[in-house]
Amino acid sequence: MRGLFVTIEGIDRSGKTTQARMLCEALGDEALAVREPGGTAVGERVRELLKDPAVEIGPRAEALLFAAARAELVARVIRPALEAGRVVVSDRFLDSSLAYQGGARGLGVEEVARINEWATGGLVPDLTILLAIDPRAAAERAGERDRFEDEGSALQEAVLATYERLAAAAPERWRHVDAARAPEAVHSEVLAAVEEARSRVVGGAPA
Ligand code: TYD
Repeated sequence: MRGLFVTIEGIDRSGKTTQARMLCEALGDEALAVREPGGTAVGERVRELLKDPAVEIGPRAEALLFAAARAELVARVIRPALEAGRVVVSDRFLDSSLAYQGGARGLGVEEVARINEWATGGLVPDLTILLAIDPRAAAERAGERDRFEDEGSALQEAVLATYERLAAAAPERWRHVDAARAPEAVHSEVLAAVEEARSRVVGGAPA
C-alpha cells in the first residue's frame, strides 16, 4: 500500500497551521498530521532550541538542526505512515529549509537540498501547497513572533521569492493557493488539490 504525502508551505503567518488542521479534519482517520520542526522527541527539543531567541545559531548549524529533526521525523513517523497507506499532512517540510536557509539565509538552494536529500533518504512530497500571501498582509495577522519574524519583512520577501522559484521549477508537485482569503475558501481549494493528487498518485493513473 502507498499513502499520499502532502506538505503545506508559506511564509510566517500565511495560515499553514490552520489549513493543516482543517485538511486533517476533512480527511478524518486516514490523515496523519505532523509539524516541522517537531513530531518526535528529538524534533521537539530541536524546535525549542531553534525558536529560542536567546540562543545564537549560525546559518549552517541552523540548516543542519532542521535537517536532523527532519531525518528523525521521516524515519520514525512519515515513512511508516505512508507504508501503512495513510495521507500524511506536514506543516512545513524540506522546502522550508530551501526557502529559509537556502534562499533567505543565502546558503544556496542546491547545497541545502543536498544535505536534506541525505537526511530524508530522498523523500519528496507528492503534493506541496504554497499558501501565497503578501508579507505585509501576513505581518498584520495576530500571533506570537519568533526569531525569523523578528528579522522583519526583507527575510519574508526572500522566503516567498524562493518558494515561487521552487514552485515554478516543479509545477507538477506544487499548487499555488491564494492565502489572503477567509480560511474556508482557502480550505476548499486545498482539499480539491489533495483529492486531485490522490487520484493521480494513489489511484495509479499515469502522471
Ligand atoms: P513554524 O513552526 O511553522 O512557525 P510558526 O508555527 O510560528 O509559524 O516554523 C518556525 C520557524 O522556523 C519559521 O519561521 C520557519 C522556520 N523554518 C526554517 O527556517 N527552516 C525549516 O526547515 C523549517 C521547517 C522552518
